[in-house]
Amino acid sequence: MNRRDFLSLVGVGFIATSLPVAIAACSPDNQGDSSATSGDEAWKKVGSTADLDSKGQLLAKNSPVGIVLVVGKSEDSNLTAVNPKCTHAGCTVGWEADSKKFVCPCHGSEFGIDGKVTKGPATKPIPSYLAKVEGDAVLVKKG
Ligand code: FES
Repeated sequence: MNRRDFLSLVGVGFIATSLPVAIAACSPDNQGDSSATSGDEAWKKVGSTADLDSKGQLLAKNSPVGIVLVVGKSEDSNLTAVNPKCTHAGCTVGWEADSKKFVCPCHGSEFGIDGKVTKGPATKPIPSYLAKVEGDAVLVKKG
């Protein structure tokens, strides 16, 4: 075996051993893994903790995820966030802290803190979001 044949053989061997790694790196399974790690990027700022704490609720009409109502205080470990658009005819529900429910001013539908209908005429729940505080920012993401 001369030098040229030896180098050709080594070159083919390198390509043969590298190809499966390159194919695996581009496979759809690994793309799924990368989206799982980037899931945290879906958190969007909808307001400040000062705004939330001043009223115990924060209505963000033009947030990056659309209209969202966050309920609670910034020190709460379990903030609640919903799309406050009533599923009956689209009015904006309000949060009643004393009775811990969302109430629609138009036709009286009521929703629990989980967004489920507790009183009609609405029949579908209002969508909820995940919510958290980071620094002085209130963040939500679709759950
Ligand atoms: S729009 Fe809310 S109850 Fe009708």
